[in-house]
Amino acid sequence: MGRGMASPPEAAGRCTLEHVAREGFGPYAESLGLVGISPGIRELGERIRALAKSHATVLILGETGTGKELVARALHALSLRPAGPFIPHNFGAITDTLVESELFGHTRGSFTGAHADRAGLFEAADKGTLFLDEIGDASPSVQSRLLRVVQEGEIRRVGDSRARRVDVRILAATHRNLSAEVSEGRFRADLFYRLHVLTLAIPPLRERLGDIPLLAAHVLTRLSRRDRVPVRGIREDALAALVEHAWPGNVRELMGALERACHALDSSGWVTRRSLGEGFGRDASALVRERAADLKERTRAYEAELIRSALQSHGGNKAGAARSLGITRQGLWKKMRRLREFDPDSP
Ligand SMILES: Nc1ncnc2c1ncn2[C@@H]1O[C@H](COP(=O)(O)OP(=O)(O)OP(=O)(O)O)[C@@H](O)[C@H]1O
Ligand SMILES: [Mg+2]
Repeated sequence: MGRGMASPPEAAGRCTLEHVAREGFGPYAESLGLVGISPGIRELGERIRALAKSHATVLILGETGTGKELVARALHALSLRPAGPFIPHNFGAITDTLVESELFGHTRGSFTGAHADRAGLFEAADKGTLFLDEIGDASPSVQSRLLRVVQEGEIRRVGDSRARRVDVRILAATHRNLSAEVSEGRFRADLFYRLHVLTLAIPPLRERLGDIPLLAAHVLTRLSRRDRVPVRGIREDALAALVEHAWPGNVRELMGALERACHALDSSGWVTRRSLGEGFGRDASALVRERAADLKERTRAYEAELIRSALQSHGGNKAGAARSLGITRQGLWKKMRRLREFDPDSP
């Protein structure tokens, strides 16, 4: 298990790629391809192990570049059907009219251009795993077809009346807040509940900054092999700048930054603060401010929700609601005033 670079490396001399390679890239690097050692990555690795053998649909949630596809592949590799196909489909990438035929197949003549019968990805993924990426982008008509497969385990090719049984494990991913899409009427609630049985949330990189040294070493090792650049390691000043960055594009953004840095190594092969160029390590205070605001907002919303439900279960009676919340009636009144969402003077 990797230790060396997990805590901030003590001496720059210890951040050599050679050293990290010796110490390892974290507990789930070899088995799952998941580099990192933060509590977030450990939890994720454990959860992948726990869910992999199930046949149930897993919904993978995470911002762009957090590793959703990587996690889907790991789930398939550890599943009961690792020898079966792993077929990814990205809803964001293809025009809507073609999606149904792509996923479900079609019969000859079912639309202009359908010159022959054709199987779709569901049939191709039989006895394996179909990864439905960016499922939040699926159109209403595809959503209703998906619901049918998830419920009945059957598909129908476009233009065909015959149902065909498929044995497919479905994994889905999205960077969107699907429950918000449901309440705004853009995503079918019934499909959402079917998909939402098991979820895996990948934390954004800014919530596991401790993984940056290992991830950086992993990426640099690969790049140095691929591009045959003699990278020796990464200096502490560069790591410090990386750890301060907000990483809206997550691991994918980190990979891009390091790829650029590889072409600006110092004369002895180190990535330094300078190799990274501009745009690093300046937004740290903004990030801290943003997080504090976020916490305040979330606490406020949570308090309001607790009060609302206490009032509701006491038929609007403030004395009863206050008692159930363990505060005085005046205390409740003050809170309601401060939250500004209530009219504390209402009877
Ligand atoms: N923990 C990790 N360890 C090693 N590599 C990682 C890790 N997380 C992400 N990566 C790498 O980062 C890149 C982006 O990951 P991936 O494509 O799985 O992200 P994604 O969430 O599907 O992104 P998008 O939303 O942009 O499609 C890939 O090259 C992946 O191998
Ligand atoms: Mg992806």
